[in-house]
Amino acid sequence: MIFDTHAHYDDEAFDEDRIQLLDSMKEAGIGTIVNIGANMASSRGSLKLAHEYDFIYAAVGVHPSDCAELDDGKMLELKELSADERCVAIGEIGLDYYWPEPDRDLQKMWFRKQIALAKGVKLPVVIHSRDAAADTLAILKEENAGVNGGVVHCFSYSAEVAKQCVDMGFFIGVGGVVTFKNGRKLKETVDILPLDNIIIETDAPYLAPAPHRGERNCSLYLPLVVETIADIKGVSTEEVIRITEENAKRMYNIAS
Ligand code: NI
Repeated sequence: MIFDTHAHYDDEAFDEDRIQLLDSMKEAGIGTIVNIGANMASSRGSLKLAHEYDFIYAAVGVHPSDCAELDDGKMLELKELSADERCVAIGEIGLDYYWPEPDRDLQKMWFRKQIALAKGVKLPVVIHSRDAAADTLAILKEENAGVNGGVVHCFSYSAEVAKQCVDMGFFIGVGGVVTFKNGRKLKETVDILPLDNIIIETDAPYLAPAPHRGERNCSLYLPLVVETIADIKGVSTEEVIRITEENAKRMYNIAS
C-alpha cells in the first residue's frame, strides 16, 4: 500500500473533516502515514494523532521558519517527545532561505542542535531545505547527519545534489511537484535516481498534485504522484508503490 512519508494532518485545514478523511485512508490504498512536526505544538499534535490511529506515526521537530521558538528547555521537551514509541524520526528540521527570517545563523544553529538530538536518540532525520543547498549539504556532511538515515523532503534541487544526498544516506522525498508542468527538474531527478532512493510524500495540506494544484492536498491524491513516477521510470504503479513503501519502512524502522 501507499506510504505517505510526510503529512501535516494536525493542520487546521483538516479541522472540519479530519476524522472522516483519516478513516477513509485504508480503503483508498493508503497504508501508512507519518505526521511531521513543524513546531512544538504540531510535534505534540503529531504524537496525539499517532496514538489515535494505528497507521499513523509521528516525527517531532521544529522547522527552520519556526526555530526562533526553540531554547534549551524546548530541546529537552523534544527529546522527551522523541522517546514516545510512536515517534519514528526527528523533523522537519533544516534551512529555509526563501524567507528573510529567522536569521540564517539562528537557523543553522538549531538545525545542528536538532541533528545532534536525532543522533543521540538514534532516529532518522526529516530535512526541509529551500534555497539553501550549499549550506544544507555542508551541515549534513559536517554533522554526519545521515548516520541513522533520513530524507530530504520535497526535494527541489538538481539531480547532482540529489546524488550527494543519497551518498550521505538520505532518501529523496517526491510529492505533488513532480506532476507540475514546471516540475521538470524534479522529473529529471526521478528519472536519474533508482527507485530504491525515492520515497513518496504529500506535505498535506500543501502542494497538491495536478490537476488539484492549489487545492488542499491529502494522501488520497497520491496515486497521481505514483502514476507520474511510474511513467517516468517506465514501470508499473504497483512496483512504484511496493518499492517506495519498502524504502519508507526501512527508513523509519517500521516493521511490516
Ligand atoms: Ni512539511
